[in-house]
Amino acid sequence: MKILVINGPNLNFLGIREPEIYGKQTYKDLVKLLKKKAKESKIKLQIIQTNHEGRMVYEIQQAYYKKMDGIVINPAAYTHTSVAVLDALKAVNIPCVEVHISDVSEREEFRKHSYVSMIAKTTIKGKGFDGYLEAIDYLINNK
Ligand code: DQA
Repeated sequence: MKILVINGPNLNFLGIREPEIYGKQTYKDLVKLLKKKAKESKIKLQIIQTNHEGRMVYEIQQAYYKKMDGIVINPAAYTHTSVAVLDALKAVNIPCVEVHISDVSEREEFRKHSYVSMIAKTTIKGKGFDGYLEAIDYLINNK
């Protein structure tokens, strides 16, 4: 099983950005955790972080050609703005799970709307890095 894990803008700043919201662990720590999970679950993960909307669309499209079985996506700020990311996920028709480190439903009004939720099989929010592990398990158990 092959899963793409894609993280959007400013998630490379984990550990630096608003630690009271996103915690003290870094993006490097997240990658380490995901690699451990891939080994334990005997699956292949491609892990990407980008600050660019176009690159997100591109990598989602590449997942189609690479015959990925699932996508775990934290679109970060593009969650709330990007029809392009939603359309890319619709286009490739690969099961996807949306993850947010923070609980977006308990924050500012503008974070309550997600375009990606319209296509995601499920949304996991407010569980920190564990949300990514839960998302991977969801895709494994629902393939
Ligand atoms: C986030 C929540 C978004 O609202 C925000 O723009 C992010 C991170 C999260 O993981 O909690 O950058 O997706």
